[in-house]
Amino acid sequence: MAAKKIEKLHLGFYPTPMVRLDGISKETGVNCYIKRDDLCGIAFGGNKVRKLEYLLAHAKAEGYDTVLTSGGAQSNHATLTAACCRKLGLDVILVLKQRGETGKKGNLVLDDIMNVEVVFVDTDDYSDVYAEADRIIEKLKAKGKKPYMIPVGGSVPLGALGYYDAVGEMAVQAKEMGFTINHIICASGSGGTHGGVLLGAKVNGGIKVTGVVVSVEVEFQQEICRLANEAAELIGLKPDIALEEVVLKEYIGPGYAIPSAEGSAAIRLMAEREGIFLDPVYTGKTFAGFLDLCKKGYFTPGENVVFIHTGGTPALFALPV
Ligand SMILES: Cc1ncc(COP(=O)(O)O)c(C=O)c1O
Repeated sequence: MAAKKIEKLHLGFYPTPMVRLDGISKETGVNCYIKRDDLCGIAFGGNKVRKLEYLLAHAKAEGYDTVLTSGGAQSNHATLTAACCRKLGLDVILVLKQRGETGKKGNLVLDDIMNVEVVFVDTDDYSDVYAEADRIIEKLKAKGKKPYMIPVGGSVPLGALGYYDAVGEMAVQAKEMGFTINHIICASGSGGTHGGVLLGAKVNGGIKVTGVVVSVEVEFQQEICRLANEAAELIGLKPDIALEEVVLKEYIGPGYAIPSAEGSAAIRLMAEREGIFLDPVYTGKTFAGFLDLCKKGYFTPGENVVFIHTGGTPALFALPV
């Protein structure tokens, strides 16, 4: 059954490049490719733009005029939401958890340059951040505004469709390049990317998917499975992704958004061998996971593995590597 099309905006430059990593393939003995979603053309790029193409299409179609989202002070999702809203002429407010953040670095510099309203909440508890967002939403409604709240990371089934599309895009590119994708590696943060990739991988010939966990989430496997199946339902496909198909490997190191020695070494290796920059929170740790899995013989000899560069590079200017 053909998948149903759902309205989306064109905010990024797609297809993003996909290239073979010759230096890394030589180093690891695994045929490794990279999908450059960091080069999608909005702000410093990243995975959130594909999700936002769906979410903001929905917001615009329903007549919402002010977009809110929340996250950590250095949230890539928040900055990319702001950048996409700026492009669309939508008002945007970022409600960010401030605790532990000092000075204006990384994404906060970009938020400032875009002249975006940022409301900081000094807390350790995300429920305080969401409570503040709810208060702002009520105030906006009282003023006759129509606010649209995007959940953390844009990880809802509609957003996950962005990565269902990405796998289709990658399969076409691989065909043009003369190879078949056997395995995809991506970071799993709030799960929407992994969920969408999983659905796309199933539809495009049963590609294996390994998600690398870089933030602590309870019931994470269930969440990714739910996102994949609910995304399938949205486009009229059978929601038949089983829990066992959600393969996760944990490489969080000392904690979420705390650089790990392995992640930093992986960032340096990628930069030295390929001239490509990863980030210390998501892609560096994910690539470190990939390198470790290569050493452990996780990949079948001859497998073609695609690593998705999901962006996040502004964090290089906020955290030590
Ligand atoms: C750079 C980067 N990579 C990967 C992820 C993980 O994506 P997801 O939240 O969809 O799991 C994020 C999420 O914030 C991110 O900013």
